[in-house]
Amino acid sequence: MKKEERIFSSPVGMKDILPEEGFIRQTIEDKAKEIFQIYGYSPISTPILEDSGLFNRSLGKYTEIVTKQMFLVKQQKQTFCLRPEATSAIVRAYLENNLHKISSFLKLYYIGPMFRAERPQKGRLRQFYHIGVEALGSNSPFLDVEIISLANRILEEFKISGFQIKINSLGCFNDRSKLKKILELRLKDKLKKLCLDCKKRYRTNVFRILDCKNEECKEVTKNLNLSHEEYLCDSCLEHWTVVKRNLDSLNIKYLISLELVRGLDYYTQTVFEISHPDLGAQDALGAGGRYDRLISELGGPELGAVGFAFGVERLLLAINPKPQLDGQVKVFIVVLGEEAKKKGFALLHKLRYEGVSCDMDYEEKSLKGQMRRANDLKVKLVALLGDNELKKQTVTLKDMASGSQEEISLQGFSEEIKKRL
Ligand code: HAM
Repeated sequence: MKKEERIFSSPVGMKDILPEEGFIRQTIEDKAKEIFQIYGYSPISTPILEDSGLFNRSLGKYTEIVTKQMFLVKQQKQTFCLRPEATSAIVRAYLENNLHKISSFLKLYYIGPMFRAERPQKGRLRQFYHIGVEALGSNSPFLDVEIISLANRILEEFKISGFQIKINSLGCFNDRSKLKKILELRLKDKLKKLCLDCKKRYRTNVFRILDCKNEECKEVTKNLNLSHEEYLCDSCLEHWTVVKRNLDSLNIKYLISLELVRGLDYYTQTVFEISHPDLGAQDALGAGGRYDRLISELGGPELGAVGFAFGVERLLLAINPKPQLDGQVKVFIVVLGEEAKKKGFALLHKLRYEGVSCDMDYEEKSLKGQMRRANDLKVKLVALLGDNELKKQTVTLKDMASGSQEEISLQGFSEEIKKRL
């Protein structure tokens, strides 16, 4: 029978993360985790599959994600989906595990893959990763400021500059309805100028018209003369004022954008988006906001919450220069001959137990080949073991940066190595 010749590819819009990028991502994740800890956030992780009904309820049945972008998985009578975002899943987990009863206020962070069946392009994938936070159980405007300042701090730590934070307030549920009516009224006689999608959005989700990328639609929405005073109630106006005042006091630069509505239905009050000019058409590095009705919408008590998520692939596009990674392996053991190989293998095992990152050859390479491999791995030290060394019970150490060599005793080998790293 003829051997199968087909080479399989990864699904469209889903890429393999190869070691070089893997290390950079690891650095990013480690840094983010360190900062989350400083701000008092604890880790949470939810399943990749969720009941698809969860997102219909939380994101809204007319949102792009629910209407077009969910990867559905049918299993007997149930329909799951690959999670398109984590906020809804975290609220589900919060309620299902009664976390709101254990602690009235909770700050969580997560890192993991999300899935949306979008048309792939630069910075837009079908499997992408979120680094995000959710703070659940408070209506305080100071929490909105903490969340925005945390996002800002992370970008500073990644040495990303030139980003812009846009903020807006959509108000409470009643204010949102008021804003919806204002939009419907002001767009009513401009419908002819809108693109086909926006004509549909006028009936299904009028807010989405505000972030349509079509130039003619943008021209229309630019001139809607919206103002917070016309739709925010006194309490939401006060919340909005406190948010702005405290962002100012922390010296966080932002731009107020009344067109910023975000594509998901759960948002209320403060919303924000962080864009970067190097990203091209998909210019949002991350985004978030308050979602004060979501917890009760999913069957829990009336509790406020706020969060954000960064897209890791977009962070990778904006981080320049990329973090320089030192060689992971610090010591390479070069062996000549069978006896030396046995001894070298035992030393490798011992060194690893002492926490030293080290490796050796598994391809029967020549001395030159082994040295080349050590060089490629950018190790700091090479430990050479041949008949000569075995006879004297020594090891020849080569410092790869200076090229200097010295002989050390096999006894106390790991201590001597550790001293030199
Ligand atoms: P989102 O705006 O849909 O918000 O996604 C957050 C970020 O994920 C975006 O700003 C972008 O950087 C990245 N992103 C989104 N879609 C893609 C894609 N197809 N390919 C690559 N990156 C992408 C949320 O998901 C909310 N859950 C954020 C949030 C948390 N709000 C409150 N808490």
